[in-house]
Amino acid sequence: MLPGGVGEMGLAFRKRVRARSVRGRVRCGRRLQRRLLWLLTSATALVAAACSNSPSSLDPKGPSASRIADLWWIMAGIAGVIFLLVVALLTYALLHRRQPDETHFPGPASGHVFILAGGVVLPVVVLSVLMTLTIKSLKDETASHPADLAVQVIAHDWWWEVRYPQSGVVTANEIHVPAGRRVQISGDAADVIHSFWVPQLIGKYDLIPGQTHTFTVEADRPGVYRGQCAEYCGLQHANMAFVIVAESDADFAAWLSRQAQPLVASADPAVQRGLQVFLGSSCAACHTVRGTAATATSGPDLTHVASRSRIGAGTLETTPGNFARWVTETQSVKPGVNMPSTDLDPTALDALVAFLVSLK
Ligand code: CUA
Repeated sequence: MLPGGVGEMGLAFRKRVRARSVRGRVRCGRRLQRRLLWLLTSATALVAAACSNSPSSLDPKGPSASRIADLWWIMAGIAGVIFLLVVALLTYALLHRRQPDETHFPGPASGHVFILAGGVVLPVVVLSVLMTLTIKSLKDETASHPADLAVQVIAHDWWWEVRYPQSGVVTANEIHVPAGRRVQISGDAADVIHSFWVPQLIGKYDLIPGQTHTFTVEADRPGVYRGQCAEYCGLQHANMAFVIVAESDADFAAWLSRQAQPLVASADPAVQRGLQVFLGSSCAACHTVRGTAATATSGPDLTHVASRSRIGAGTLETTPGNFARWVTETQSVKPGVNMPSTDLDPTALDALVAFLVSLK
């Protein structure tokens, strides 16, 4: 074969390779477009979700959450400026990139200055500013102030025990506090590590068995603020919710004195029958109803369970139908929970529900 023939074959081969690489680039470009579109859609959905009615830490209603939100906005602002700067530099580099046959390279000195400024000085300055602001926030957050009220919270798999030591009130999954007052919470856990988090009022505090964490919660105004366990603690971690109900001083005092009352015997025969069902079934083995023979403490105190807005640590709304469902279908409503599903004949169930509903 002549040398010229080899040269033509080489040229044809190079053309094929170039054509293939162009096709490859087009495919790659389309893939990139699809990914960018997916990213944009997901980001939009996320932003939309953040702006919906769910409690957001960017909608703070107390001093502690406000500190966290302020810090977040400062970080987001700085990150946004840096992002725009990087995009601008990237665009500049793409528009002024070297051609493949360009043989002139600028000297290394100009690059060194750029790397030193953008890669060392800028990160050191930005991170130092953020660290200083974070340390200041942490100091403010943990500074001890005299509290107006002390509440003890004990996290269990998967519910929250709430105690008011000054008045002897014990309740669950609903923490009432006076608005505009500093409430000192002593948090502990009975089994595994949980985390106390009320996005609109306070950041996450780990509750660790055998170690009491003390922190201050304050709500600026009356309202109901949703809280959630924020540390994976087993099967029903997601169904370990609670609420903080902030009220005026008068409403809070009235609530506290109602909660301090033991069970008042009812004249309603259905309720009386229900109490007997309660005491005669497995309910009394785990729950307390103050003023009755039921004094067990492994489950929530039920003395005023019907006054709470939800049962099962936020799982179901408090309604007669849901009480019946909770008692008989516990393991399908909240699989894995310590409470077993209880078989009761319809008459006994109706009486038990009448009793539970009366526990206001
Ligand atoms: Cu308790 Cu997650």
